[in-house]
Amino acid sequence: MTPAAPKRGRRWCQWYFPGRCGTVDHVSEPEVVRHDTRLDRYVDHYAARTHGMRASAVRALFSVANRPEVVSLAGGMPNIADLPLDVVGEAIRDLVLEHGVQAMQYGSGQGEPRIREHICEVMALEGIDAHPDDVTITVGSQQGLDLVTRIFCDPGDVIVAEAPSYVGALGTFASYQTRVVHVTMDDDGIDPDALRAAVESSRRGGGRPKFLYTIPNFNNPSGISQSLERRRRIIDVCRELDLLIVEDNPYGLLRLEGDPLPALRAMDAEQVIYLGSFSKTFAPGFRVGWVLAPHAVREKLVLAQESATLCPPVFSQMAVSTYLERHDWRAQIEAFKDMYRARRDAMLEALREYMPPGTTWTTPGGGFFVWVTLPDGLDAQAMLPRAVSARVAFTPGTAFYADGFGSRNMRLSFCYPTPERIREGVRRLAEVVNREYEVNRTFGIGSQQSPHHGTDVSGAPGPDQS
Ligand SMILES: Cc1ncc(COP(=O)(O)O)c(C=O)c1O
Repeated sequence: MTPAAPKRGRRWCQWYFPGRCGTVDHVSEPEVVRHDTRLDRYVDHYAARTHGMRASAVRALFSVANRPEVVSLAGGMPNIADLPLDVVGEAIRDLVLEHGVQAMQYGSGQGEPRIREHICEVMALEGIDAHPDDVTITVGSQQGLDLVTRIFCDPGDVIVAEAPSYVGALGTFASYQTRVVHVTMDDDGIDPDALRAAVESSRRGGGRPKFLYTIPNFNNPSGISQSLERRRRIIDVCRELDLLIVEDNPYGLLRLEGDPLPALRAMDAEQVIYLGSFSKTFAPGFRVGWVLAPHAVREKLVLAQESATLCPPVFSQMAVSTYLERHDWRAQIEAFKDMYRARRDAMLEALREYMPPGTTWTTPGGGFFVWVTLPDGLDAQAMLPRAVSARVAFTPGTAFYADGFGSRNMRLSFCYPTPERIREGVRRLAEVVNREYEVNRTFGIGSQQSPHHGTDVSGAPGPDQS
C-alpha cells in the first residue's frame, strides 16, 4: 500500500504529486524557530541553528516505553543477542594483545585501509564495484549524512527527500538549516514524475536543490523498496536534471526474500553518493559506517572528517575487520534474516488478526519496519499516551516528515521484541485503535483529534534508540 498523502504544506517543506505540482515559495534564508527558554541563561549566545533544536515532545513517554512491562514497537534497535560474543570477545582480546598499540593510536582521516577493503567486498553483494580509495569511514552512517550535508549544503539550500524519510536524516538536514522538499512514494518507491516536477519547480522558484535523499531498500519508516525499473527511472531523471543522489542503504542486505537488488550506486558511479553501515549487519555499538563517493567528493569528505573527528575511531575499525576475518559474516547475516523474518511475519499476522477495518499497512520485504495507516479521523500521535498506558509503544508518523504530516500513520518496528511479544504488542495496540475507531464512528470525529502537529523534526523521538 501507499503511504498516506499529506494533507497540507507549510513554509519549510513542499509536496509534489504528479500532475498537480505546487509552486515553490521564493527562496529565503530559513526562518529560525526558537524553542528555547529564558530559563537557559545562555540563550542569547547560541548560533541561529541551535535555536531550532529541542528535546522530543514524546521523549518522556519513550522512557516509560522502555520499561519491561511495555512492549516497545517504537525503537529501531537491531537485535544482536544472537551474535557470537565469544568470537567477538576473542577477536577484541587478540586485537589488543597483538595490535593494541596501533589500534589505540590516531589513524587516517579517511579510515583504515583494511576495513575499506572489506567494505568493498560487502558492497559487491549489492553489485557495487568500488575501489577502497573511494571509501571514507564514518562514525555510523549517521555521520556520513552529516558530512555529506556539510560539504554540499548552505542554509536555505533544498534537499529533495522521499516521504516519509528517516528521522535522523531529517534532523541532520534541519541542523544545517536546509529546506526539505518531500516527494511522494508509491509501492515501488519515489514517483519519478513527481521528482522531476519538484526539482524543476524548485529551480524555477530560485531554489537550490542539492541532492535527492533516498533509502531504496526497506525505507525507514515505511518498509517500501524501489523496484529495479523504478531505480533506473530515478537515476535517469537525476542524470537529466544533474541532481546528485544520496543513497542511504543500511538495510539492503536484510532482504528477507530473494536476492538483493543492485544498489543505485551499482548503476551509476558518478551521480550517486552511497552510505553504508555495519550497524544492522553486525553491531551498532562500534559506530562504523562509510561513504562511497566519486573521487573529488571523497577528498572533500576526508577534509570534513578531519575537521570533525581528526580520524574515525581506529579501534572500532580494527575490531570490525577482525570480526569479518574470523567469523562467517555472510552466514551471520543469513541467521539475522531468519530471525527478522519470523518477527516480521508475527507482526503482519497479528495486524491482520487484530486491527479494525480501514487500517492498512505495508508488507516490507526486509529491514525493520511496518508502516500503518489508521482509518480516517484517527490521530496516531494523540493515541500514543493511551497506547503507552496500555503497555505498548510505537513511533508516530509525524516524526518522519519535515513538516508534521503523517498524523494517521505509525511506524511499528519488528526488529527487537520476540515474535510472542510482537503479537502481544499488536494486540494491545489494536485494542487502543479499536476504541478510538468506535468513538470516531459513534461521534463522527476522533476522540481527541488534534490538528497537524506542525513538528520540527527536532521534536521527533531520537533516531531509533528508544
Ligand atoms: C535509514 C537510516 N540511515 C542511517 C541510520 C544511522 O545508522 P548508523 O549511524 O548506526 O549507521 C539509520 C539508523 O537507524 C537508518 O535507519
